[in-house]
Order: sequence, then structure tokens, then C-alpha cells
Amino acid sequence: DVAHDLVIVANRLPVDRVIESDGTTTWRRSPGGLVSAIDPVMRAHDGVWIGWPGGTDQDLQPFEDDGLQLVPLSMTPEEIEEHYEGFSNGTLWPLYHDLVAKPEFHREWWDTYVKVNRRFAEKAAELAAKGATVWVHDYQLQLVPQFLRELRPDLRIGFYLHIPFPPGELFQQLPWRRQILEGLLGADLVGFQLPGAAQNFVRLVRQRVGHKTHRDLVYLPDGRTVRAAPFPISIDAAGFEDLARSDAVTKRAEAIREALGNPRKIFLGIDRLDYTKGIYARLRAFGELLRDGHLGVDDAVFVQVAVPSRERVEQYRLLRDEIDRLVGRLNGDLGRIGRPAISYLHTSYPREEMASLYRAADIMVVTPYRDGMNLVAKEYVACRIEDDGALVLSEFAGAADELRQAWLVNPYDMNGMKAALLEAYQAEPRELTKRMKAMRKQISQHDVKAWADSFMTELADDAHHSHSKT
Ligand code: G6P
Repeated sequence: DVAHDLVIVANRLPVDRVIESDGTTTWRRSPGGLVSAIDPVMRAHDGVWIGWPGGTDQDLQPFEDDGLQLVPLSMTPEEIEEHYEGFSNGTLWPLYHDLVAKPEFHREWWDTYVKVNRRFAEKAAELAAKGATVWVHDYQLQLVPQFLRELRPDLRIGFYLHIPFPPGELFQQLPWRRQILEGLLGADLVGFQLPGAAQNFVRLVRQRVGHKTHRDLVYLPDGRTVRAAPFPISIDAAGFEDLARSDAVTKRAEAIREALGNPRKIFLGIDRLDYTKGIYARLRAFGELLRDGHLGVDDAVFVQVAVPSRERVEQYRLLRDEIDRLVGRLNGDLGRIGRPAISYLHTSYPREEMASLYRAADIMVVTPYRDGMNLVAKEYVACRIEDDGALVLSEFAGAADELRQAWLVNPYDMNGMKAALLEAYQAEPRELTKRMKAMRKQISQHDVKAWADSFMTELADDAHHSHSKT
């Protein structure tokens, strides 16, 4: 076994093991923003990636996929139910996203979360070279930094939270709040999307754990220092731009417009099918604009791609049924032959098809109730190589901090959302260009490479950790 200088630890591997209808198994790219962000970091640093490959296969061996070294960590059906579906996505996910859904608190879920976190830490301890860097990702693995430090005090440990970190009033509901904070404090550097999240964390550490803090630093009794800071995540902007310029994507974008009947304007939503994303409200807003006569089905169509996600979790099943019903009703009431109001696709697409959709769409609609960052908004901007197109963006997505020239909306405000959709629809080309240019500049200057570099540089920086005893 070779020891590695960089170990990435994430709940998911970048590929997901799926069983086809004929019983054979294949690998498919995993959904979500985390995977698309870490992929380029891995390539740049030649690291190894520990994660769950999806499914219940046991004893999978380390393997290489598309140039990445992957180490699968298997989970039993019970662990999937209690660690992944339960504590991670039935407790933490809704709690950290402002209670958009009601979190459930179950002691068995917590116990399994601890157990799985411990196993991830043990695997990382086994693979890391002396003095190596281990970068742990996201809410499913918040105890790994502490467990790993106990096993390997020689390591440099970073943790990054891809989703929001809630204010104290919400976080305090968690019966295991102190354990989670102590888990994270095992890291040298704890990264968040936004400054407010880092501040929430430091304040909670001071109040709940009782450690001394100063600005973004936490002073531990053993002399160690932990830094908490924002690192807003991004995308491979140049890669998306190149893809968007390619002949294949240019042709495919035209074909998509044609297949939709060349409407005057195409609205587009692309999300994991998740209740935080505000898909229902946005489709309703569009439906009302048709019903009110502000838009007509010959002029406008809404393409909504909903990527299947966490389908065994009750709240996700309910959401799917609600969206199915709404799309059926809107098309039944407002569509005409050959002209549905909503073109709804419950599936996931490869990057190339996504880029084609981004190029085909005139108005990108991203309206989550709460979102750590939202990379779809950034991908759309990167793909608008002609400096046109409009972005309608929720103020509650992390991306709204950077993409100030979007039409910013409050997704709880139905009339406000309708007004923004209509304004974006009617905007003059000059206005669109002015806004899109500014957003494109922002994204090209702050891409995922800059994100990873700044995190890694900060993590390697000894200045903040001069007291660390190994
Ligand atoms: C979000 C989370 C990731 C997660 C992804 C997909 O982006 O921050 O940690 O991997 O959603 O969700 P899934 O449950 O399929 O891993």
C-alpha cells in the first residue's frame, strides 16, 4: 500500500455504482455540487479519494476511474438508512437549511452516524503519509476531523462544509450539538461558503464549548488553534466555457430550441429534486404568468430538469408526487397540442447536455429557499459565451453574494418572483449584456481552482498553528 500526501474524504465517490434493469452493474457520475467541485482539485494534486460508492456492495477494492484514485468505503443497508438517509438527510440537511422541512431526531441515527464517521477516519488514517494533508468534506462527516486527529496527530486536517451552517437558534435544537462542534474542532481549518456561517460556528464554539475565540480563531486548551473562514466554492469556468463553445454543444443547443418549437424565450431550471430548491413555487409562478396572460405558450416554455435524489427518503418522495401533479395540472390547463407549458424531465444529464441546455435557455431560474452556494447558477453564467441571457436568482443562495447582477428574488414572495420572471423576459438586450458581462467576469476570476488553492494554501500556512504539538 502506498501512502498518500493528499487524502480527500467525502461521503460520496465521484462515481455511483448503479444496477441496470438487466442486473449488470455500471458506474455513473454522482449528482450534486460537491463532486463537481472536488474533481478538478484531485486532478491537480494527484490525491486519493475515500467515499461511499452508492449501493450496498461490500468489499469493493480501490480502483482508478478516469485518472482518479478511488477508495470505496462500503455501507451496510442499515448504515445507509441511519447514517445517510437518516441522520445526514433526515436530521442535518433540513436543520442546516433553515427548517425548510422538519428535521427528525433519532438516537439510533446518531449512533450510526458516529460509527460511520469513525470508519471514514480510520480509512483516512490508514492511507495518509506522514504529515500528509487530509481534506474532509461536508455535513455527513463532521466527526471525522476529531477521530482522525486522535489517530494521527501528525496530519494537517482541513474540513469544508458545502451547505449552510445555521445560526445558533436553529443549531441548538440538535441534541448532539456539542459533539458536532467538537468533531469539527479536530480540523486545523474549517471552511464555509459564507462569512456568516463561519461567524455562526465561532460564536457557537464560544457559547457551547466554552473555548476562547478571537475573530476567526478558536484557541483550544491544548494550545492548538483552529481557524474558521469563508471560501465560496465555484466551478471550472474555463472548462464550461470551452464546452459551451464546442461545435457539438452549439449544434445541440439549436436542436433543443427546435425540438421545443422555437419559442421566443426558453426558461430553464436544473436542480436535484430537493425541497430546498423551490421548484414547486417557481413553476407555480410561471404558471400564473401564463394564466394571467402575461406570457403565452407560443412565446415561452419552461424546461425543468429534476435530477433524482435521495429517493428512499419520505420527504423526497412526497416532493416528487407534488411536482408530478403540478406539472400535469399546468400542462393540462394551459398547454395546447404540441405546446406544453412545462417540459419536465426527471433524469440526470452529462455535462455536455447541461451546457447545451444552458446555451439554449434565455432565462435561467434558480430559486432555492436556502442553498450553500448553487453551482448551477454559476455554470449558466460560464456557458453564456455571447454575454446574453438572464439569471433569476434567489437571495438565499450563497451565489447571490457574488452574482449581484442577477434578478434577485425572495422565493417566498410569489408576486415578487412573477415580477422578476417577467422583467427578465422583457429585458432589453443591452441590459442583459451589461449584467451578464459583469457576472462572467466574477466567475472567471473566482473559479474552482482559485477556491481550492486558497483553501489549501491557508491549510498549509503554519502561522495560525504555531502551537500545535504532535
Ligand atoms: C449536496 C451536498 C453533497 C451531496 C450532494 C448530492 O451537494 O452538499 O454532499 O453529495 O448534494 O446528494 P447525495 O445525497 O446524492 O450525495
